[in-house]
Amino acid sequence: MNNQPIGIFDSGIGGLTIAQAVKKMLPNESIIYFGDTAHLPYGDKSTAAIQSYVVKICDLLIKRHCKVILIACNSASAAAYELAKEYVASKAKVINVIDPIVSHIGTHYRQQTIGLIGTQKTVSSNVYQKKINNLDADIFLKSLATKLLVPMIEEGYFNNNISTNIINNYLSDEKLSGIKALILGCTHYPLIKNEIEKYYKGSVEVIDASDIVAESLKNILLSNGLNTDTSSVPEHFFFVSDYTKSFVASTKIFFGEEVNLEYYPLWE
Ligand code: DGL
Repeated sequence: MNNQPIGIFDSGIGGLTIAQAVKKMLPNESIIYFGDTAHLPYGDKSTAAIQSYVVKICDLLIKRHCKVILIACNSASAAAYELAKEYVASKAKVINVIDPIVSHIGTHYRQQTIGLIGTQKTVSSNVYQKKINNLDADIFLKSLATKLLVPMIEEGYFNNNISTNIINNYLSDEKLSGIKALILGCTHYPLIKNEIEKYYKGSVEVIDASDIVAESLKNILLSNGLNTDTSSVPEHFFFVSDYTKSFVASTKIFFGEEVNLEYYPLWE
């Protein structure tokens, strides 16, 4: 079991920001990444639609013998984590990107006001609010759906005037006033983290899920005895359900290095 791969999936290539952190934190683990680019974005899909995609992706990752399935997408974590956990049952451990962040917030931001930006799906699901309420840590959450950010990033618009204008426009919204920290509640957003930090000029802590999720995955592997042995040579596979040149180009930006992106006909 231990040398089996870790399955990581997202609606597209945003989840590669998580995969990159996992690779850095757990260099001996093999990764199978699946980006459902045929259905991108998940953020404005119905819960039922996202759940049907997630079940099929879980089937694929189980077929590829993944010991863990990491839902590297906030929208899918919000819409389908409970279902995926039940569906996969004992065949693999299912984890999401939201719980590690919530636990981080609970440890570091008791009695503070925190902001959240994410897709429409993530924000309207109230999943962060519900999980933060369960902490009973007196944390006040202010949320804003930032719908333009995923298509903007997917189009390669970041670190330029257009992206800075859009980002500043969102961040100056009254709904995010008075926050102590801001959760980047979408796995695409690490790519615009520096622009967000520039806006706040150090007055607000910007919380990026990648390292927090990778650290939590490491602890889960260790506590379940699922970590691979240190001598094992990892093998990574990167699949997408719709293959275009622009995905190939963005993959390198999101993962931080060249990868061999392959088309996987999951929906044929
Ligand atoms: N990366 C996904 C997330 O974390 C959002 C992208 C999408 O809308 O598909 O929510």
